[in-house]
Amino acid sequence: MTATILVTGGAGYIGSHACLALLQAGYAVVAIDNLCNSHARALERVRQLAGRDLHFVQGDIRDAAALGRLFADHPIAAVMHFAGLKAVGESCKKPLLYYDNNVLGTISLLQAMERAAVKRLIFSSSATVYGFPERMPIDEEAPLAAYNPYGRTKQMIEQMLGDLCLPTAQDGWQVALLRYFNPVGAHESGMIGEDPGGIPNNLLPYVTQVAAGRREWLPVFGNDYPTADGTGVRDYIHVLDLVDGHLKALQKLETLPEGEGFCRAWNLGTGQGYSVLEMVRTFEQVNGVAVPYRIMPRRDGDVASCWADASRAKTELGWVAKRDLATMLADSWRWQHNNPDGYR
Ligand code: NAD
Ligand code: WQD
Repeated sequence: MTATILVTGGAGYIGSHACLALLQAGYAVVAIDNLCNSHARALERVRQLAGRDLHFVQGDIRDAAALGRLFADHPIAAVMHFAGLKAVGESCKKPLLYYDNNVLGTISLLQAMERAAVKRLIFSSSATVYGFPERMPIDEEAPLAAYNPYGRTKQMIEQMLGDLCLPTAQDGWQVALLRYFNPVGAHESGMIGEDPGGIPNNLLPYVTQVAAGRREWLPVFGNDYPTADGTGVRDYIHVLDLVDGHLKALQKLETLPEGEGFCRAWNLGTGQGYSVLEMVRTFEQVNGVAVPYRIMPRRDGDVASCWADASRAKTELGWVAKRDLATMLADSWRWQHNNPDGYR
């Protein structure tokens, strides 16, 4: 029988790619999204690409009644939980919004799962839980030290999920905590991708909007970091590799005996860091477009370097990121070029 997976935040950047990968792998998909940072058109394109339907519920994960109906109507086997707010700067201005949406939203989801006796969850965590790490690369045993409200919501949710899986807890939850590094890229069709509203917070959407002429130049936040060229270094990972990691984590949870408590964190990164200027130059070379930039002061809260030790996911999930930087940057550009105004 085909297993049905609930994807929260399914219309979002990573969630839409996950819906597509699940459909292509033969799962049935139910997606819930309140569309606060996305567009239902993303899911129309997912249906088109997959040649299969999925069920979409426009709703909020904090709405217990809506979740109750959803679990009553569909035989959910496991949940991929992407729904959440993710802008670090906004979380510093409106911390309560983030605790309400991310933490209370997750509690509401877990309560609905408990009522429906669904115990398998894959959670979108973030390398941001490591804070300012002491060593590179970062492995999963590094201490958790999130330093902004957004990061703290992820850390709190991780801790809450860990508690659900303690041997003393009675319910036998089975949880994968996937700590993403820097997701970029888009499906190779150029039909689905990242569609940030307003001024992009993240590097790649900013770069593609400059390349498209929507913005004049890229601010490069600091060139005096202790890195090879002075600009910040990150571990960029193709969104398709990232969602492949989710499928591998799902398969891992599916092998566990029901009722056996399990909670494990896995880094999803490539293990390779690139600087901001390397990203800009490679983007220009691969896509044949110019990306003017200006060196600006450092951005508050940025670490100099951050890249993953992804060996645990390789050993335990049989997962490695396969797509190289050129592919990430070509796919990001194809999406932006084909959809200058995103889904609007
Ligand atoms: P996104 O904003 O594109 O997707 C999140 C989706 O959740 C959006 O479609 C939004 O409308 C929906 N949503 C938010 N709150 C909701 C609620 N209360 N009820 C229902 N739907 C709700 O972001 P993304 O980049 O796809 O990120 C997905 C997840 O991965 C998030 O939890 C994010 O924190 C996490 N993450 C993202 C990154 C990144 O750089 N993109 C890195 C690490 C972790
Ligand atoms: C990457 C590099 C910037 C924009 C953030 C969140 C993190 C996670 C991923 C969710 C840095 C530089 C950026 C620009 C620039 N999200 N930059 N000009 O900061 O590693 O991580 O997104 O969990 O929590 O903090 O990613 O893409 O913002 O920045 O120079 O306009 O690009 O300084 O060195 P970051 P990013």
